[in-house]
Amino acid sequence: MVLLLSFLACKTDAPEPDGSAITYYRDVRPVLDMSCARCHNDEGIASSFDDPAVVQGLAATLKAYTASGYMPPPAPAPDCREYASSERFTLTDAQKATIAAWADTGAALGDPADAPAARDTTLETIAPYDVELWASQPYTPTFTSTDGNDYRCFLIDVGNSAPVWITALQAEIDNPRIVHHVVLFQPSTVDDLYANGDPYAGFSCSGVGQSNWSTLGAWGPGANPTVLPEGVGMPLPANAQVVLQMHYFNSFDGADQEQDQSGYGLLLSDSVERNAVNIPAGPTRFTIPAGDENYTVKEQYRWDTNSEVLAVWPHMHLLGSGFEETVTHADGSEECLMRMDGWDFHNQVTANFLQPAALQPGDRIRVACTYDNSANNPAQVSSPPVDVAFGEGTTDEMCFGFTLVADAAPSAR
Ligand code: HEC
Repeated sequence: MVLLLSFLACKTDAPEPDGSAITYYRDVRPVLDMSCARCHNDEGIASSFDDPAVVQGLAATLKAYTASGYMPPPAPAPDCREYASSERFTLTDAQKATIAAWADTGAALGDPADAPAARDTTLETIAPYDVELWASQPYTPTFTSTDGNDYRCFLIDVGNSAPVWITALQAEIDNPRIVHHVVLFQPSTVDDLYANGDPYAGFSCSGVGQSNWSTLGAWGPGANPTVLPEGVGMPLPANAQVVLQMHYFNSFDGADQEQDQSGYGLLLSDSVERNAVNIPAGPTRFTIPAGDENYTVKEQYRWDTNSEVLAVWPHMHLLGSGFEETVTHADGSEECLMRMDGWDFHNQVTANFLQPAALQPGDRIRVACTYDNSANNPAQVSSPPVDVAFGEGTTDEMCFGFTLVADAAPSAR
């Protein structure tokens, strides 16, 4: 019996007999499914890895990009805090070694019967939704020669006859080639929106919304669903109306001929124990000096209530190089909420906390964004670099930690 057990243990732990046994279907595909396919699929924001022959042809690039850390793109640092699915944001050394060994030994496809079961799509969707909110009609953005940005808002009825709570939400992007980011707002009044015609048909709007609009959710490339913990929800009154704000950008020839009709999917509950709000925390007045390769901007908020932080979604534009949101507790201790030691515009993941962060009166939340505005930044769009200020355009910058908080809101800064 003892012998048999040790034989079995030995068998499961056995290393590959030799490198040539490493195949796409059995060894590489599970890694790609876990950490790459949420962007690299037929409908995703990057070239599809759905065709094994295509991946085989890219073997040397897969090895180079994963070894250098270029792919997958920078993600929330695991030593800051634990997040749902965070094992899928980064590769382990063993996973990198598997990809390297596969590329080095001929990149065999192997036996399709060894392929893993259907891949986990929890980082892509929470469908089936309870409610889908779509812009009323397809829209073709209007860009001018001086402004490659178009902010378009659509008023949408949620269709709820009684109060409800949003317990999870996810943007559904129709045409990712022209969508830069999306925000879902809840206006406190809508009367002013009728000034220029039917707001359901779409209207031109400001990138930072209006002072009487609160934020429900936000999306940028790579964003995964926001999922609130059990018993927590964002309240919507009966017959709620929301504003879907689309930011379109002109990044290729013909972008002004494209159409888009995006929306949001919601999971709803009739009752929850606690209310949550989404706070776009961050500075809105700053200028990043031309040429500065390491420039940090900050904003701080004081808390007056007992609350819990549940999730953070960071948002910067192209020049970002790092992000950090922390709490300084009233007793002086520091707690990390979310940190990114790099930034790729295409990987704006929602960090859904495994354990909420408790806030008490006197605590301070700080959001800090770091930028590289030098000529060395591959994401640099100006040659030579120019001063870049907070603003609504893709070539302006933003610094937000959309912070999901249960039970409270901040007071004075
Ligand atoms: C959050 C989205 C995202 C994830 C996750 C991601 N990628 Fe990418 N990847 C991109 C984007 C966007 C590009 C194209 C732009 C670029 O090269 O930076 C890209 C480009 C690539 C390319 C070049 C493809 C080509 O057709 O030339 C390779 C290879 C690659 N990624 C490998 C990987 C691997 C391997 C993983 C997982 C371990 C991964 N990526 C995870 C977004 C992602």
